[in-house]
Amino acid sequence: MYKPRTSCRACGLGSPQSTTLKQSTAAGSVYQEDQKLIEVFDLGVQPLANDFVAASDERAGFAPLKVLFCPRCHLGQLSVEVSPNILYSHNYPYVTSTSDTMKAHFGLINDGLSKECKRPNTVVEIGSNDGALLGFLLSHGWKTALGIDPAQNLCQVAQTHGIPSLCQFFNEVSAETALKCVGHPDLILARHCFCHINDWKGFVKGLEVLAGDNTVIAIEVPWAQDMLENLEFDTVYHEHTSYLSLKSIDFLLKDSSLGLSDAWHYDIHGGAIMLIIKKRGFDDARARLALSKERISLDAWREFAAKSEVKVMELSAKVRSLAAEGKTIVGYGASAKSTVWIQACGFKKSHVRFIADCTKGKWYKQSPGTDIPIVDEGALTRELPNYAILFAWNFRKEIIEKERLFREKGGKWIVPVPKIEIV
Ligand code: TMP
Repeated sequence: MYKPRTSCRACGLGSPQSTTLKQSTAAGSVYQEDQKLIEVFDLGVQPLANDFVAASDERAGFAPLKVLFCPRCHLGQLSVEVSPNILYSHNYPYVTSTSDTMKAHFGLINDGLSKECKRPNTVVEIGSNDGALLGFLLSHGWKTALGIDPAQNLCQVAQTHGIPSLCQFFNEVSAETALKCVGHPDLILARHCFCHINDWKGFVKGLEVLAGDNTVIAIEVPWAQDMLENLEFDTVYHEHTSYLSLKSIDFLLKDSSLGLSDAWHYDIHGGAIMLIIKKRGFDDARARLALSKERISLDAWREFAAKSEVKVMELSAKVRSLAAEGKTIVGYGASAKSTVWIQACGFKKSHVRFIADCTKGKWYKQSPGTDIPIVDEGALTRELPNYAILFAWNFRKEIIEKERLFREKGGKWIVPVPKIEIV
């Protein structure tokens, strides 16, 4: 089900090839092992965060959830890789949000990328999910779109919405297929899938095949700097195999025909950056500036780990004391993040009665590793609990506004990120 990761997927530190020359003597060369990846954060053994199944169904399993830090390129990465076939290929429940927050974000990235591309005509999206973003771009002037995604259920949805989709993982082979379908696109876009990928070198080779001289590659990723500063420890789960530093991308692309041209920062999902990558030959001043400002370090990871532990104890104690007083507590947003919180705090149905969520595919299932049921969003105002933990804190403004009746009737939100707040 999973295998260990002992070398850095960006710069290779820890791999047998990653040795440094210590000294050359008359007797020959002496090599020393380079530094090793350093353990910085450990959440123990956890269920897969999106393994929402009915009480009677088979579970995918549990795996260690531990982050290793690369002292050379500052990439954080999980100590194990769960097989992508288990995580994604069958009935993957994560659907791109159609919330107002997300639509506004799509608008922002379309504005930026339309300007960055010489001709905003053809777009290929890697990790296209149900085709929501490609559909948006087609309705905003882009002429041709192709999706690539390994989840069969989601490719089918995209196809029914008129978005052609290759149901494959992205690599050199699927890049060749995409090239045959649409030629070199003006834009290759990948939102929040790059940090799910184990083989970054293979991914870069695929990009080199598909990208032409004028192609803009735009990869949106959560940025470890935001995660560390806002204590978003609940974004650490098995699908996120990497916690990205710009420095690691610089290392990764070093031996390729591609280079980092710029990095745009967005607030979405607790803080993300759009890596702008192009075939070499451009002025990389904007990327150098962004790289020089990055503050990810071993100390920052250690501080994050210590503060996250305190935060878990805080929420755990708060919920237990409210439950002991007879208060009713539920969750809102059965995100993968909710699984991480619930496991870290050891919550069961006796603490969190249910989690309300708008995704139909999650209803009547259970939060992974627990007996906590997932129900429809309407349950919040039907049941009127005393407290609701906002696990989908990245949609805070939108959800609190949408569910204002809950507060009008006396309900209170517990918002866990960036700090635990009752509102
Ligand atoms: P995400 O942060 O990984 O996108 O997950 C957010 C979860 O919250 C997802 O399961 C959908 C759910 N959600 C609602 O139930 N209601 C909402 O209004 C929004 C925006 C999200």
